[in-house]
Amino acid sequence: MPQAFYRRYRPSTFSDVLGQETIVRILKEAARRGAFSHAYLFAGPRGSGKTTTARLIAKAANCTVLMDGEPCNECPSCMEMNEGRNLDVIEIDAASNRGIDEIRNLKENVRSAPSRARFKVFIIDEVHMLTTPAFNALLKTLEEPPEQVILILATTEFEKIPPTITSRTQQFHFKRVPLKVLTEKLMRIAETEKVRIEPEALELVASAAEGSFREAESLLDQLSTAYTDGISTERVERMVGKVGFGTLNECARYLLAGDTDAALALISEVADLGHHLPQFTKDLIQFLRRVAVVSVSPKMGEKLAKELTDTHLAALREHAKHFLMTEHLQLLKGLIDAYAQMRYSQFAIIPLEIAVIEGLRK
Ligand SMILES: Nc1ncnc2c1ncn2[C@@H]1O[C@H](COP(=O)(O)OP(=O)(O)O)[C@@H](O)[C@H]1O
Ligand SMILES: [Mg+2]
Ligand SMILES: [Zn+2]
Repeated sequence: MPQAFYRRYRPSTFSDVLGQETIVRILKEAARRGAFSHAYLFAGPRGSGKTTTARLIAKAANCTVLMDGEPCNECPSCMEMNEGRNLDVIEIDAASNRGIDEIRNLKENVRSAPSRARFKVFIIDEVHMLTTPAFNALLKTLEEPPEQVILILATTEFEKIPPTITSRTQQFHFKRVPLKVLTEKLMRIAETEKVRIEPEALELVASAAEGSFREAESLLDQLSTAYTDGISTERVERMVGKVGFGTLNECARYLLAGDTDAALALISEVADLGHHLPQFTKDLIQFLRRVAVVSVSPKMGEKLAKELTDTHLAALREHAKHFLMTEHLQLLKGLIDAYAQMRYSQFAIIPLEIAVIEGLRK
């Protein structure tokens, strides 16, 4: 089995960690000064780079020829870490090791010196899963960590971490990655791997991943294995159960032009293709909401530019010219109501059709 994309393309330097500029800058500076904290807390959505960054700290802290705050990836220590055989980096999944015993083990382990490396690094993933006694035990370690130890706690649920813990760590909040950044990395991977994929299909992969690099990379991996003869938008649509920008764009065009016939035909086609209609309606609402926003506030357009590709933004701007405040806001409201109804309905298409007919009634 060849190595999965998300492993092969895991960042090997801080600069390769995308969309987390502030965090990267601070950590590189800490590496340069040889002044890492003894305890970090990484919070943020899945697939945003928490585990990756934790491993980079472990690597940088132990690299013997650090270059401008970056691990060299060539010294014996870096090589060991890249191959995952460094005994001084210990990863613990708190989801399956929730209890006091595991943390007691950890405490014992923290006290013993690193075997070869300069720093022993403990990465505790999903740390919000720990039981209260386990948190209390961990607290002791956080209060007086030995010199040569770095503890990195990672979580997707920051609110569940007791303040006694958070206050003893340096906190970093990882951001949900913008669509553009995600798409660019996917594009580079597709190029390197010689995966043939339509640009719109690639964007759909990125948007279906909802800000998670891991999700996006796994999806691309899966698609490239399933379709060696090239990946079309339609194939991605089928795999992710979501329509691409082109279909939404077309539907919006009919709606804003008041073409009930064409809009209903398109919706029926989407249903026939087996797409999940509530999901389609949700995406359509999101699309029209963006058109509405762009039409009232050009400034917001600049903000949206972060979430969208340039072609998408241009299309939205074009639609915005045809957006009529009273009429189309009413249509948008109707779609939102329809969405609420159709999620629990056996006839998902009916509320959607009614919303369109009512919304476009002259
Ligand atoms: N900020 C990022 N920049 C580039 N690639 C990333 C980033 N975050 C995640 N990835 C990709 O996703 C994979 C999983 O990331 P990971 O660090 O395990 O996410 P997390 O721990 O936040 O769930 C990595 O191997 C890498 O390929
Ligand atoms: Mg992780
Ligand atoms: Zn090195």
